[in-house]
Formats: sequence, C-alpha cells, structure tokens
Amino acid sequence: MMGPVLAACLLIILSTAWISQANEALCKKDGGVCSCNNNKNSVDCSSKRLTAIPINIPTDTENLKLNYNKLSKLSPTVFHHLTKLRQLYLSNNQLQALPIGVFDQLVNLTDLRLNQNQLQSLPDGVFDKLTSLTQLTLDQNELQSLPHGVFDSLTKLTYLSLNSNQLKRVPEEAFDSLEKLKMLQLQENPWDCTCNGIIYMAKWLKKKADEGLGGVDTAGCEKGGKAVLEITEKDAASDCVSPNTTTAIPIGTMTPASVIYDDIHEIKVPQENFQKFLGYQEPDHLPTQPQCLMSISGYLGLMMSLMLTSAAILYVFHFLKKA
Ligand SMILES: *[C@@H]1O[C@H](CO)[C@@H](O)[C@H](O)[C@H]1NC(C)=O
Ligand SMILES: *[C@@H]1O[C@H](CO)[C@@H](O)[C@H](O)[C@H]1NC(C)=O
Repeated sequence: MMGPVLAACLLIILSTAWISQANEALCKKDGGVCSCNNNKNSVDCSSKRLTAIPINIPTDTENLKLNYNKLSKLSPTVFHHLTKLRQLYLSNNQLQALPIGVFDQLVNLTDLRLNQNQLQSLPDGVFDKLTSLTQLTLDQNELQSLPHGVFDSLTKLTYLSLNSNQLKRVPEEAFDSLEKLKMLQLQENPWDCTCNGIIYMAKWLKKKADEGLGGVDTAGCEKGGKAVLEITEKDAASDCVSPNTTTAIPIGTMTPASVIYDDIHEIKVPQENFQKFLGYQEPDHLPTQPQCLMSISGYLGLMMSLMLTSAAILYVFHFLKKA
C-alpha cells in the first residue's frame, strides 16, 4: 500500500517540478527576478525594487522594462550587449545622472523612457547613436539645461516630452533636426522669457505652430503669463548670459554635473565584485540556488525514503515467503 502511494507522490512532485522548471527556463532567464515573453523577446523587470539591473538579460531582448524600480545609477556598459533593444523603459527610478555613452550600442531603439527620475543634466552626445528613436520621454526630471546638439541625431523622433523640469531655455538649434516631430510637451518649466536666450525656441515654436506641430503652446513663460511662442525679440531683450553659455550648459550647472559623472567613473568595481554589483541586491530577490538546493535535497530525501521503503517491503516479503 505504502509503495504505490509514495511512488505516485514522487511522480506528481517530480512532474510538477519538471513543468515549473521548464517554465522557469522560458520565463525567468535572468535568474528569477524578471518575467520573459519569448515570442516577443520581451523582458519585464518592472516594479521589483531593483537597485541594479539584473545580469543575464538575454542578448536578443527587444523590449526591456525596468520602470518602477530603485535604480539610482547605471554602469556605462550595462546595455552594451543588448544591441537589439527597441523599447527601453527606465522611467520611475531614481537616476540622477546617465553615464557617457550608455545608449551608444542601441541603434535600433525606438522608444526610450526616462521620465520620472532625478536627472539634473544629460551627458554630451547621450542620444547621438539613437537614430531610430521615435519616442523620448524626459518629463518629470530636474533638468536645468540641455547639452548643445542633444537631439541632433533624432531625425525620426515623433514624440518628445520635456515637461516638468527646470529648463529656462534650450540651446540654439536644439530642435532643428526634429523634422518628424508630431507632439512636444514643454509645460511646467521656468521658461525665462526676459532673456534673449529664449528667442530661438520662441521663433521655432511659432514656425512649428504654423506647420501644425502639437504642443507648441505648452511652453509658458515663468513670468508674465504669455506663451513662449508669443515672445518677440523686444520682449526678451536682456542679454542675461554670455553668448557662449546660451548654447551650452551654463557654467554654474556644468561643474556639479561633471563632478557627479567623475564620481561615477572613479568608482572602480573589482571584476569579481562587478557581477555582484550588477546582480541582485535585494534580499527578497536572491538567486534561486538555495531554492534549488532545497528542492534537490528534498528529492534525494524522497528517493532515499522510497528506496528504504521498497527495501523494507522486499525484506518483509522475503521473510514471509521463508516463513
Ligand atoms: C536593427 O534592425 C535592422 C532591421 O530590422 C536589422 O537588420 C539589424 O540587424 C538590427 N541591428 C542590430 C544591431 O540588431
Ligand atoms: C566664446 O567661445 C569662443 C571659443 O570657445 C571664444 O573664442 C570666445 O572668446 C567666447 N566668447 C565669450 C563672450 O566668452
């Protein structure tokens, strides 16, 4: 009686373990934190309280969701093996800066979401390789300025959100390459309409309003209640900053920003710790090895008891036969 029950038990346990193991192989390639959809080459690591990006994200991943986590910095090479990415969601994290060149391999990226972070500045050329990008969200950060030419490669961009930042102006020619743009969000920034640094944007918005671009009226002056596109050279007559700094990062914000980047570059993580650094740091998302060990020892225990029981039964049969 005991043998068949135990055998059935074992069979059930083994088969469910086999099935869940198979699912794991399909859906938890990264080691258990994220869920994967193989058909869509998508990996969803959103809302996992991650402080670092999991290692082992498959290189053929096209859609990677890392939004709603606790990422506060990125390694400069963290996306370098993910050249097939099309969508990258980094929104709703705590990023204060981006490393130089962090997106440089993502030539096929179409959708980059960086909204709802704490970005105070962007490194030079950060989007220069993203020539496929159609959607870029930078809203709800703390951007005080934009680097010169930051959008110059984004000739396919159709949607750009810069709302809810600390921008007073944009560099000369900042929007000139955005020929495909359909919607622009600029509200909730302290656009400074008293300085002539606003003239480029005012003229550009006015021209685009005539061409039917959406959102051209979302930029309102910090003072005076006018829309930026209404501002004329007469309104913004003051030469508030030197000509050089109207087109580049104002000196005042440049220093802290570069200090932040230097800090990041100078953290030399030893190679053996690097994997750990990029791996799981949350105690509740530890790798599955302990679980595996536990289940293996469970199976071994069951096997052993099965063998012992069979031996006992055989022994009893043998004994009865003799008697
Ligand atoms: C980018 O996409 C194109 C067209 O789908 C493809 O031929 C190319 O190999 C992709 N590049 C990378 C780096 O995956
Ligand atoms: C602006 O920059 C150029 C070259 O970097 C320099 O020659 C020039 O003197 C600067 N002008 C001002 C007003 O700082």
